Amino acid sequence: MRQYEYLVRSIGDQILKGDMAVGSKLPSERATAKKFVVSRSTVRRAWRELESLGYVTWSNQSTPVVIRPLEPMGRAERSPVGRLAEALSPTFLGDLMQAAVSSARYNFEIGMPDPELLPIQDFQQILRELFSYPSREVFGYSPTLGLERVRRAISEEFLTRRGIAMSPHNILVTAGSLQGLNLLTRLWVRPGDVILTESPTFAGALHIFRSHGAKILGIPIDESGINVDMLTSLTLGQNPRFLYIQPVGQNPTGVTLAPERRLKLLHWAQQSQIPIVEDDAYGFLSDEPTPPLASEDGKIPLVYLNTFSKILAPGIRVGFLAAPADLIRQLVALKQLSDLHTGTLSQLVAEGWLRQGRVDAHIQRARTIYKGRLKLATRVIRQAAQLTLFAEPTHGFYLFAKLPAGLTAQSLHAKASQRDVLFAPGQPFSPDGELFGDWIRLAVGAQPTAQIETGLRRLTRLLEDVADGSSGSSNRTIKLPRS
Ligand SMILES: Cc1ncc(COP(=O)(O)O)c(C=O)c1O
Repeated sequence: MRQYEYLVRSIGDQILKGDMAVGSKLPSERATAKKFVVSRSTVRRAWRELESLGYVTWSNQSTPVVIRPLEPMGRAERSPVGRLAEALSPTFLGDLMQAAVSSARYNFEIGMPDPELLPIQDFQQILRELFSYPSREVFGYSPTLGLERVRRAISEEFLTRRGIAMSPHNILVTAGSLQGLNLLTRLWVRPGDVILTESPTFAGALHIFRSHGAKILGIPIDESGINVDMLTSLTLGQNPRFLYIQPVGQNPTGVTLAPERRLKLLHWAQQSQIPIVEDDAYGFLSDEPTPPLASEDGKIPLVYLNTFSKILAPGIRVGFLAAPADLIRQLVALKQLSDLHTGTLSQLVAEGWLRQGRVDAHIQRARTIYKGRLKLATRVIRQAAQLTLFAEPTHGFYLFAKLPAGLTAQSLHAKASQRDVLFAPGQPFSPDGELFGDWIRLAVGAQPTAQIETGLRRLTRLLEDVADGSSGSSNRTIKLPRS
């Protein structure tokens, strides 16, 4: 992370937390430069960025003034959803998205595909062809459900490869799969309803569930996936709305459901008739023959989510939800209220990629590269011995690791970012918000091999320094790397 970015994050956090009141001046340029041990031009650059983000105004004053508008928040607090949204920790997902554009050299924070794997030439070809279409077909409005040709391509080229037979009528194209999960939760969940999840699980899903006032019941997982015996006993008498699960390359642990657990889970779903919401975001990254639960052809009540974000490009924001047609109809009505439809151009790009004939080669290449990166990261972590891995996944992006006793991920995060190393703290992945404070998630997918080795060694050296009390910065003076 560059010096000015660190300042932006640090000052922005204080403003968000209310530590700096609206109307108050930021500390002077000189004081800030001294505190963070940076040049005055770095301070001014951070101030400019804070101004463009809407945290401060800096027009006529020598020092910026905090303007974060509190009025709209005050209004939101009056609505039930607004109150819940306020109670979330909104900065975690925001930080993750900010990490996506961070220039930090060793960025293990954000779970995304390596941009180097983007099939640029295919994209150029696809876009060239799209520009030869009548512009209203590419840049005009389109149906909320998703373009018919795109849903057909998803059915024939995407779902078939996952072993799922699903008609285009059962597919709703969404702006990322997270939108699908949000719409479904809006439709199905009332405040106080119970939702079952793995523990730990994807923080974005937990944010959605919490924002709807759900009671989240986390079921422990191990290196073979969810503990189905505990699932059965813990859910007795609970009447949960659904189980949210990622059976392959789970975020944040990288774990995949073992075949015998998968069978047990199917049995549980058949017996209980509790719907499963299957998030298969990392399904394509595994070369193990683990078929999605959705390939079981209507034997269990199930909604299936997937996305182009992890196999192709998250920025195009195309995902989809597959479900029985009556449910799709209700979700369409909700999506209309949200964004009318997923971007027409983005949908057509995704379709173009599915139809251009090189999907299998792309998937194969991605699997091989990520597998190698996970293997290397696992070796470096094992050699260092300060981190304990939750599991040793062979596919996907993630490793989940426990810190040495007495250390919290949150305190390490600040120190690590000063050394240009980013990771995601573990606590936001906790269903009850209490666990995994001493765990970190390392996303290695988008990091080239050399960076993985050096970055992880930096991290383990920091852990050694922290252990022997020589990690550097005091609370009053923050030492930053030179950018
Ligand atoms: C399990 C899981 N589901 C969904 C998403 C979000 O996907 P999308 O970009 O399609 O909204 C993520 C992103 O990290 C994820 O890990």
